[in-house]
Amino acid sequence: MTRALWTWDSLVPAAIGMAEGVPSQPITGFSIDTRSLQPGEVFVALRDVRDGHDFVLEAFRRGASAALVEMAYRKADGDGALIRVDDVLQGLRSIAAAARRRTDARIVAVTGSVGKTGTKEALRRCLSLMAPTHAAEKSFNNHWGVPLTLARMPADVRYGVFEIGMNHAGEITPLTALVRPHVAIVTTVEPVHLEFFGTTDRIAEAKAEIFSGLEPGGVAVLPRDNPHFELLAARAAVHGARVVSFGRHENADVRPEQWVLDAEGSDLTVRFGDRLISYRIGAPGAHQAQNSLAVVAALDALGVDVEAAISALAEVRAAKGRGERSRIDLVDGPLLLIDESYNANPASMRSALEAMATVPRAQYQRRIAVLGDMLELGEASGDLHAGLSAPVEAAEVDLVFACGPNMQRLYEALPASRRGAWAPASDGIRDAVLGNVRGGDVVVVKGSLGSRMAPLVDALVAKGQEARA
Ligand SMILES: Nc1ncnc2c1ncn2[C@@H]1O[C@H](COP(=O)(O)OP(=O)(O)O)[C@@H](O)[C@H]1O
Ligand SMILES: [Mg+2]
Repeated sequence: MTRALWTWDSLVPAAIGMAEGVPSQPITGFSIDTRSLQPGEVFVALRDVRDGHDFVLEAFRRGASAALVEMAYRKADGDGALIRVDDVLQGLRSIAAAARRRTDARIVAVTGSVGKTGTKEALRRCLSLMAPTHAAEKSFNNHWGVPLTLARMPADVRYGVFEIGMNHAGEITPLTALVRPHVAIVTTVEPVHLEFFGTTDRIAEAKAEIFSGLEPGGVAVLPRDNPHFELLAARAAVHGARVVSFGRHENADVRPEQWVLDAEGSDLTVRFGDRLISYRIGAPGAHQAQNSLAVVAALDALGVDVEAAISALAEVRAAKGRGERSRIDLVDGPLLLIDESYNANPASMRSALEAMATVPRAQYQRRIAVLGDMLELGEASGDLHAGLSAPVEAAEVDLVFACGPNMQRLYEALPASRRGAWAPASDGIRDAVLGNVRGGDVVVVKGSLGSRMAPLVDALVAKGQEARA
């Protein structure tokens, strides 16, 4: 039998709810989506894009142990045990707060403009090697993702790792109050979601909200090389945090002494305090190496054997849409595809182009970038797109295929020799890309999710399948 995550008798008061019935099976988790609900989970009937109350019966059909619903919900034939609350999201938050109260786990929260999920996953790997660890699924970092992750946390884990995201000022404060981290990491502050903020200073202020939830004696892990470091450190100090900085800056507390990037990963030797440790990261790119410095700082702050834990990074791999590399066999030889189609902003564009440049010319002769619009950048958008011509040049990209009204600015800023094709939308450059690529190319595909670059990745994979057929 699966071990229960919550007993009914502890969950009902945790939700500050009214029980109706009793579950006929142990409570194993929580789900907000019947399509992925596992038997034994409590279905949380959130009102989001759809009203979860319309799916309660379906949840019980799929084996839900109970459902968290509003007072007014009309019980249907076939429904199982219910917990009724005034507001379902508030009920979930109450459960989350109770989950936090009942555990002695050491908690890390990760925010930042980019690198949250990668850093969270790296910490999950490192900490799991040492002791039972609970961490957020995917990018569960918003007003429901954070409480859902807390509700799912077993009481007896030693470590918990949470991702906290935001699009607007004020969003992090209530989330960090729930998480109450011992260690709060800000990976970096970059012009992302600029249209909601106007300036990166305001973005830094919003990220700094994370310190308000720190436990007494907590640690703030901050990017020393970032122009907003001083601001972040000042805000952390207001909340009594001890600041540990990471980066290449000579005053950084965690600093790389050696930093060797290759096409498959990186080898680092890192100094912190009077210690020197070496480790390998199994995913390529300077951004991975940069994020690993924050991981070292957090592990040390948690009192973990850093050298033992960090060895787990050798097994890290870039995820689908976030730098995953695959070899595609075309009729005239192999092509290396770098799938960065999940998201894009100026910082991650630079890191992706830099990472492509680690692929040796001896192996893949021609560098091709297929780039879609970076969204939500507000007024500065045009300039930020045009400004990519510098990293394109630095990475010695041979050809750029671009799509979207913003990427037109980059396309026009490039010398004619670097221009592949441009179209208003991604389907408009599909044939040009497919017609141009050949064996011996390394191709990075990157853009915001809304720029629909993933179909171009699929088209390149399909071209490989055709070549084999
Ligand atoms: N420290 C960093 N600096 C610049 N780019 C980064 C950094 N960390 C990650 N990235 C880039 O951002 C993309 C998204 O990373 P991810 O960890 O999913 O960030 P988030 O969860 O903050 O959205 C990655 O594919 C990578 O290209
Ligand atoms: Mg994320």
